[in-house]
Amino acid sequence: MLNTLKKLLRPLIPGRKIAGGPASGVRPTGDVKRDAGLYWARSSGEDVVRDLSHWRGQGRWAEREWLELGEFHMGLVGRLADASRSETGTSGQPGDADAGIDRVSQSGSTEGFEEFIAALPSRNALEWGPGGGANSRLLCASLDRVYGVDISEANIEECVAQMEAFGFKNFVPVLIDSSQPEQVDGKVPEDSLGFILSTAVFQHFPSRQYSLDVLKIMGRLLAPGGYAFIQVRYDDGSDQLKQKTENYFDNVIFMTSFGAGEFAAQAAYAGLTVVASERDLDREPNGKIAHYEYFLFRNQAS
Ligand SMILES: C[S@@+](CC[C@H](N)C(=O)[O-])C[C@H]1O[C@@H](n2cnc3c(N)ncnc32)[C@H](O)[C@@H]1O
Repeated sequence: MLNTLKKLLRPLIPGRKIAGGPASGVRPTGDVKRDAGLYWARSSGEDVVRDLSHWRGQGRWAEREWLELGEFHMGLVGRLADASRSETGTSGQPGDADAGIDRVSQSGSTEGFEEFIAALPSRNALEWGPGGGANSRLLCASLDRVYGVDISEANIEECVAQMEAFGFKNFVPVLIDSSQPEQVDGKVPEDSLGFILSTAVFQHFPSRQYSLDVLKIMGRLLAPGGYAFIQVRYDDGSDQLKQKTENYFDNVIFMTSFGAGEFAAQAAYAGLTVVASERDLDREPNGKIAHYEYFLFRNQAS
């Protein structure tokens, strides 16, 4: 019960404003795509960006919290896959925060995830934005090959180091330029992946157009019948959540979010159909619901 409560109160959003600027020694250029690359490169030397990148043992991510982060995500994948096999097709309706939370409190295992993995059309997977590797650890344990795509050399090196520390040899780092997500195309074969996962990354994208570009890439890389599990922020109409268009360093935490139906519509355009979704499973440090929504998609291409 205590663990469940801790998961629910898990602070995914830092309680302080993280700003760039002169103190970091790196100056933004004003081009939000380039500035994303400059910002995340700062985990090479700044504790606050390492914490934001979910490095094991850094800031909020003491050993136990870091291990539980990945387990929470894989458990949720299993639950969403289960829900898709049930009558409703989705679990946790938009705005039905309490229903979502109740379901999370019933979940503590990654059993459903193993079942989900066993039914995938391919045992190759990709994590978009693996950061410190909390998710990749579990993907590498269950799958043959796991590509990790990141725009930060420091973060991808940290992920490689963590996978090596766990004894995994199946992690394939893919470093891309933040302005050119399509660089992934030449490095990961088309139609080859059974599963793609991306948590706490789309909210940091420079724009909604960038999100659509990445979804289209994902659609190309997924095998027919493959799945994608993606976490986004939803826009509740507040100034905090509304889409930002400039000042990446200042807006990095709340850069990109989606209005009702917008993310599912983008995904549909990329050939991905919603299998199940849940929102409002995470809380901010002040106890308020964080505006996250998790989607499980299936690639309909044949
Ligand atoms: C908040 S961390 C999340 C790490 C991991 N997904 C997790 O949930 O523990 C964000 C990660 O996304 C990466 N990132 C940010 N923008 C990206 C982009 N456009 N493409 C790929 N990775 C990106 C960052 O470098 C960082 O590693």
